[in-house]
Amino acid sequence: MSIKDDAISAHGGGELVDLKAPASERVGLRKHAEGLVQAPLSARDLADLEMLASGAFTPLTGFMTEADYVRSRDDMRLANGTPWSIPITLGVEEALARSLKPGQEVALVAENGAPLAIQRVTDIFQVDRSREAEAVFGTAEDAHPGARNVTSTPPWCLGGTVTLIDDIPGRTFLEYRLEPRETRARFRELGWRKIVAFQTRNPTHRAHEYIQKAALEICDGFLLHPLVGETKSDDVPAAIRMKTYKVLLEFYYPKGRAMLSVMPAHMRYGGPREAILHAIIRRNYGCTHFIVGRDHAGVGNYYGTYDAQKMFERFGRDEIGITPLMFENTFYCSKCLGMASYKTCPHTDADRLLLSGTKVREMLRAGQAPPPEYTRPEIAAILVEAMKESR
Ligand code: ADX
Repeated sequence: MSIKDDAISAHGGGELVDLKAPASERVGLRKHAEGLVQAPLSARDLADLEMLASGAFTPLTGFMTEADYVRSRDDMRLANGTPWSIPITLGVEEALARSLKPGQEVALVAENGAPLAIQRVTDIFQVDRSREAEAVFGTAEDAHPGARNVTSTPPWCLGGTVTLIDDIPGRTFLEYRLEPRETRARFRELGWRKIVAFQTRNPTHRAHEYIQKAALEICDGFLLHPLVGETKSDDVPAAIRMKTYKVLLEFYYPKGRAMLSVMPAHMRYGGPREAILHAIIRRNYGCTHFIVGRDHAGVGNYYGTYDAQKMFERFGRDEIGITPLMFENTFYCSKCLGMASYKTCPHTDADRLLLSGTKVREMLRAGQAPPPEYTRPEIAAILVEAMKESR
């Protein structure tokens, strides 16, 4: 079945991008790549490569050219006007960049030197990483983890189309690592037409579950789609988070209505701009709706609670092509005797269970489970155990 028959088109309106060389050509291409100049890939580059190759970053067909870079940085669009809120670049050392000619092929290699992809380098350009960080994150401070990642990436960039010629090493959670074509196929099998996706980089709490279920009330199916690429060191590791997601689906969702799959991207902590990118990506995975709650993809106090939601107003609804479902700050209220939000609960903060992330971490470190109104007991047990083991 063609993607045209799906409920939702890929971003940009065309087919899903597929940058993988056919299996029959891979051996020959790997031989060819051995004779090419090599560009090393960092862990974050690898994540971007996987997103590109699988079509999760459709319509991108490689690391950005200068025209796409500049417009996505300044205008949140690609050169052709398609919305794209965060630049995707391949930064390399200056000596390598200067040694190349436009049009040349380069082998993109893993840490062990194995060629994974061939890039036809059409653009070799230098960027201002501080300016990029200011534009994307609103700051170039080292204290912002996304800004720090950008400013520590070399300013020389190689832009051009990429062909994947080998499997990306170190891919985890393979059973749950469905690519956009695979999630779309699963949705068709399940008969889901309205599908809501949930981005997360945290263990799952009752507030998450509440907004997921509120969204599922108006959709056919729910895709729990945790990001499992690199996160900052004090975020809960993906392996522990995965345990919490499995428990949630096993005990708190009806079979046939919810699905767990992982998203290989790394976390940028880009708040509003990353919310747009997260939505675009989920459209490519075949979802029709996307949850945006409070401080989506935020970090520290860099963004206002609802800045990510407001960012969607900058685009025409059909331009992003996936419907954002916005939720206010949610919590358990002892007067409502249930989960509620600032939008639905008439009581005061004294009645609400409002635990900060710091407070929850303190409790877990002390071997104390957060209350069941905050976290399901099975999930609290996983987190307490993980905290014990990490000591
Ligand atoms: S994120 O960096 O991936 O956004 P997190 O995993 O905490 O962080 O959040 C996942 C999604 O749930 C985001 O859309 C976020 O806005 C939303 N969210 C998290 N906690 C709450 C809450 N208490 N109330 C409303 N929305 C929330």
